[in-house]
Amino acid sequence: MSDIVSFEQTPWPAPSFAPLPASVPYYLSAHYWWAYVHPRAVQVFERQWLVNLILWGNYPRLSESALDELGDELPGATLQVACVYGDLTEQLCARAAAGGGRVDIVDVLPIQLQNLRSKLPPDAPAHLLPMNSADLAMPTGSYDRALVFFLLHEQPRHVRERTLAEVARVVKPGGKIVVVDYARPRWWNPLRYLWGPVLALLEPFALDLWRQELTAWLPPACRGRLRKRSFFGGLYQQLVIANGE
Ligand SMILES: C[S@@+](CC[C@H](N)C(=O)[O-])C[C@H]1O[C@@H](n2cnc3c(N)ncnc32)[C@H](O)[C@@H]1O
Repeated sequence: MSDIVSFEQTPWPAPSFAPLPASVPYYLSAHYWWAYVHPRAVQVFERQWLVNLILWGNYPRLSESALDELGDELPGATLQVACVYGDLTEQLCARAAAGGGRVDIVDVLPIQLQNLRSKLPPDAPAHLLPMNSADLAMPTGSYDRALVFFLLHEQPRHVRERTLAEVARVVKPGGKIVVVDYARPRWWNPLRYLWGPVLALLEPFALDLWRQELTAWLPPACRGRLRKRSFFGGLYQQLVIANGE
């Protein structure tokens, strides 16, 4: 859609860089075609109740926690790394509008950006940018904060590391990075035994986050400056990172 790359159509200040069309990473074509790439994927999965079901009823709690961590009013520039099914981006944009700020949303799949555009109100202060999270075109220190919601478990290790390094690069020193994703459930959580095989079958890189702390893939400057919160018997985590100087 034209307004994904044409900033002139919005009343919000355009980013000062030109995004290039990104090619589809192999892991999306190979493992996530059914969820994001296939033309029918959006029709099937763009249902908040379905995403909530996949998250065992935790979508509202996890998205509200991330939004509250970012703030009720968001001045300046906010980056959302990758589209999310459901109303998370709409809520993020409402908070940016309340603070006089804007949200840039990057995603590597045009179909996902088109779907997001169709969900957002026309006056949402949003720029939709076709871009790979592992190779962001923005200048260093462009954003006041960033949100990475359930992206990292989908990425192979080297892409996950690049994504975190790029997010840390484009967020200003002292800016906030909020990451929400899977984690290793506690020993007593029955989902440790039920959900593990499902993830192993459908999401081949997700169990990395059960085996290692997310800090393993963070750039060294961010490692000592974070808070972790666990949800749902440890199956989900939220990391709040104060970006390094
Ligand atoms: C944020 S993740 C998962 C979100 C979550 N399962 C949901 O929708 O509720 C899904 C998105 O990540 C995007 N994505 C995956 N790898 C990417 C990459 N390297 N760069 C940018 N976007 C990427 C996919 O195109 C998809 O739109």
